[in-house]
Amino acid sequence: MSTQHGTPHDSRRQSGMFRTKTVEQSILDTEEPEHTLKKSLSALDLTVFGVGVVIGTGIFVLTGKIAKEQAGPAVALAFVAAGVVCALAALCYAEFASTVPVAGSAYTFAYASLGELPAWIIGWDLILELALGCAVVAVGWSGYVRSLLDSAGWHLPVGLSGTHEGQFGFDLLACVLVLVLTGILVLGMKLSSRVTAVVVGIKVTVVLLVIIAGAFLINGANYEPFVPPSEPTAGGGGLGAPLAQLLFGFTPSNFGVMGIFGAAAVVFFAFIGFDIVATAAEETRNPQRDVPRGILGSLAICTLLYVAVSVVVTGMQKYDRLSTDAPLADAFKDLDQPYFAGVISFGAAVGLTSVCMILLLGQSRVFFAMSRDGLLPRVFSRAHPRYGTPYRATIALGVVVAVVSGFTSIDELAELVNIGTLFAFVVVAIGVILLRRSRPDLPRSFRTPFVPVVPLLSVAASLWLMLNLPAETWARFAVWMVVGFGVFFLYGRSHSRLGIRSRQSEKG
Ligand code: ALA
Repeated sequence: MSTQHGTPHDSRRQSGMFRTKTVEQSILDTEEPEHTLKKSLSALDLTVFGVGVVIGTGIFVLTGKIAKEQAGPAVALAFVAAGVVCALAALCYAEFASTVPVAGSAYTFAYASLGELPAWIIGWDLILELALGCAVVAVGWSGYVRSLLDSAGWHLPVGLSGTHEGQFGFDLLACVLVLVLTGILVLGMKLSSRVTAVVVGIKVTVVLLVIIAGAFLINGANYEPFVPPSEPTAGGGGLGAPLAQLLFGFTPSNFGVMGIFGAAAVVFFAFIGFDIVATAAEETRNPQRDVPRGILGSLAICTLLYVAVSVVVTGMQKYDRLSTDAPLADAFKDLDQPYFAGVISFGAAVGLTSVCMILLLGQSRVFFAMSRDGLLPRVFSRAHPRYGTPYRATIALGVVVAVVSGFTSIDELAELVNIGTLFAFVVVAIGVILLRRSRPDLPRSFRTPFVPVVPLLSVAASLWLMLNLPAETWARFAVWMVVGFGVFFLYGRSHSRLGIRSRQSEKG
């Protein structure tokens, strides 16, 4: 095995912003006692984590909204399209995670293949996906819980019920949820995965209930037309129109075939999270075997459930009558099945809890890895002496996310989360190709098939979904990335451990 300066390729790349951290160095860093995480997870734990984070707001909330506003019953096809994009990306993630079993997911992968600056960009980008995603889901969760409380006759004061229609209110429930989950994560992975297992059980049962009970309530006429004819977007779309439609000169429109792609770019949110399985690689007993199994297994289960749920729900109720807040529960209410509606609302509220927790978990691991590398202050990369968890990163992020979720109603930010995630997919797919060339010697227990074809298809598919997101989402994404560059040049570049090591070795 080569050392940090082992190959001619590596030594050429050890200076400057594209210096790479070798895979061996990444693994060595995890073995420093003060910065070591406990290895306690199995393939089953990882699959449960995957399903736990993936099934959430996407299926419980977005299905109805997107069927009603963008795709009609063809929302099922949008789920298939988004699932295909994710499967291509998953094949790339699985190879990377089995080669570089170190906390930090796409960030770590990028550091090993593309270099420090791209790695920083990805880490910064993952904050969008994970922390902001967690805040979005916490707000959605609090909506479900308030609706359950309302049915029980308990009403929270308006000022503590979140922001509605421009009227500010602190979202107390969302904020408390994030703080409680932060505490659970600090206490340890094993406890967290047990809590998650129970929650995932309830959630999957509720989704199966929707599919099975709902199948008996389908009216075939509701599928006509399956792909509703395209309709120009009200007001011409402006910056709210998908970038692809603006770039290629289409009249911005909903429904029709283009509507399915626009819908796929949004329901993609429902799949976010399978990549987080890779962030737990370092805490897995046999990462080379179990991480790919966890990633691909959870993705396959979720795709099947999503397509089934969307076929059933658009068959139960005409798409233009679906509710946008709680479409699954409301479809049952509309067909005089209030009992099922109550159970589904309860399952959704429980289910969103695990989504938030795992998003928070993934984020703290990325933050931990960035801090261990010196790109963020090193104080955040101390593992807890007793629980072996990255407690400082977890607490710092938990508090920030709790505050954000308390003060925002951020529906449209789901699109920002999507663009950030798709961007990470692009980088990971390119990384697979580069790492095969630069380090063909590394053991890879999972190999992406047909390299470079599959990674290139993954890049093209992710870019296509990105192009189907609104132009204003692109603008927000650009602003976020510009801020990230600023932080890197002001802090990360000079504090990078890799940079410090290479400066020392140049002097010595
Ligand atoms: N996939 C997760 C959800 O749908 C983020 O809530």
